[in-house]
Amino acid sequence: MTTTGNNGVAASKTNTQPLWLLAEVTYRCPLHCAFCYNPTDYDKHTQNELTTEQWIQALRDARKMGALQLGISGGEPLLRDDIEDIVREARQLGYYSNLITSGVGLTEKRIQEFKEGGLDHIQLSMHDITEEINNFITNTKTFELKKKVAAMIKGHGYPMVLNVVIHRYNIGHIKEILEMAEALGADYVELANTQYYGWSLINRSQLMPTKEQIDHAEMITNEFRQKVGNKMKIFFVVPDYFSDRPKKCMNGWGEVFMIVTANGDVLPCHSARVLPGMAFPNVREHGLEWAWKESPAFNKYRGDDWMKEPCRSCPEKEKDLGGCRCQAFLLSGDAESADPVCTLSPNHHLIEKAIEDAKNPQLQAQPIVFRNDKNSRRIAAGEAP
Ligand code: FES
Repeated sequence: MTTTGNNGVAASKTNTQPLWLLAEVTYRCPLHCAFCYNPTDYDKHTQNELTTEQWIQALRDARKMGALQLGISGGEPLLRDDIEDIVREARQLGYYSNLITSGVGLTEKRIQEFKEGGLDHIQLSMHDITEEINNFITNTKTFELKKKVAAMIKGHGYPMVLNVVIHRYNIGHIKEILEMAEALGADYVELANTQYYGWSLINRSQLMPTKEQIDHAEMITNEFRQKVGNKMKIFFVVPDYFSDRPKKCMNGWGEVFMIVTANGDVLPCHSARVLPGMAFPNVREHGLEWAWKESPAFNKYRGDDWMKEPCRSCPEKEKDLGGCRCQAFLLSGDAESADPVCTLSPNHHLIEKAIEDAKNPQLQAQPIVFRNDKNSRRIAAGEAP
């Protein structure tokens, strides 16, 4: 909740603390996934990566504020050679640390150092059971490597956590994907249906499955869950577009989640930089405490003071806080409107249209825009994707 001080600047009344710090340490990535949620104009933010010392300071500051969970992600974090230093510092500070990786760049030497340094958890992305789809959707040749990395993670005694983004190209392989995960000895599998932000929003009509495909995939997942029991925990993340109500995005804006990006911007959610008229704090100029408690950006959508109808008088507003501000803006052009996912939103027809568009063979056949530096440079320069 915020009030406006007599200088017109939002003053914080928050009692919240960041429990999660996500360090997006680089936007560089050897993969070019069509569904990547990174900003499409990431090229703007690649010149100025934080140094090791600046990351360590950010970790210390967030820990002082109460952060307990540290995610190290990107891009591909392993493209930096200081992840070992960051991991060691995280352990000393008492974080539970999680490396989120494509596996490219994970070697025996590095995983050994991570183990000794106290890394708690590694989450590996997998894409399909077929080499063809894996290589197509990532625009790389990484199929064999991923299986080797999965074995390496297991071999070093880590719980194996696989994250599989689900889209039209692999949704027909859910059973085989789960069988592969079981054969690899996975402890947790997250079947993350594509959400439409960043690159996946550009490629939405090419990636979106039908409601029938999603329902079928969920049924197969439930059957598999019964078969394996507790041996392998399976999460099936239902996509927003096929829900009636929106999610409480990031568990609420500025409630528990803080992201520091490769160039030091401090964000309440992955996509916040798409929102117009927002100035996000940067760790080079402000401490994390100021960013969290005092910055106008973190206070802007905290609580519910900002809400318009129909959210303002909705009996469910505490539950979903009006949904996702970025999705509201990306689809309707109004960041303060209800998330169009909600069937009570006056913009819900935009979701219905997107679902219909994804059934149109002409739109399905449009070439995919892969995440890469050249495409990002073009988008950053204002060219159409
Ligand atoms: Fe920004 Fe949901 S991703 S509020």
